[in-house]
Amino acid sequence: MRALSLLAWSVPLLLLGQFLTVGLATFHDAALWGAHIALGSTIGLPVLILAILPWLMPQARPVRWWTLALLTIFLIQIGLAGAAESGLTLLAALHPVNAIVLMGTAVIVAMKLYRRERKARNIDLNTVLKISS
Ligand code: HEM
Repeated sequence: MRALSLLAWSVPLLLLGQFLTVGLATFHDAALWGAHIALGSTIGLPVLILAILPWLMPQARPVRWWTLALLTIFLIQIGLAGAAESGLTLLAALHPVNAIVLMGTAVIVAMKLYRRERKARNIDLNTVLKISS
């Protein structure tokens, strides 16, 4: 549960880095759009793992649909970026807007998993205390 919670927090952190690549590519060096594309695709890995693991872990059951929503919003994000190449520029304009939705959902997932992990740890501690008293 702790590993899942840590993995969940890696997503908003990586997204912050992704926002930084936008700033760097815009104001510093346009070649860094390459880093944006590379990091953007890499974020898919923790997002995918987060969408799968709660279906195998009963403790993480309440976040199952949230992590699936996160994966869906992530895939929409990639689709929106790709839309520009197909000439669907108005659709592609939603790429930065969806980035905010993605960040919000990632923070919600991370907070929910953190709360569940803390609750599970307290229950464990209470069991130990009851047994030892
Ligand atoms: C304010 C936020 C964002 C802005 C302004 C932005 C902007 C852009 C731009 C201009 C491109 C085209 C780059 C090029 O082809 O040279 C792009 C591509 C891309 N972005 Fe973003 N982006 C943002 C957030 C994100 C986030 C949060 C993710 C993913 C988690 C992401 C993932 C991608 C990916 C994977 C591509 C490449 C898509 C492809 O080549 O088909 N972006 N973005």
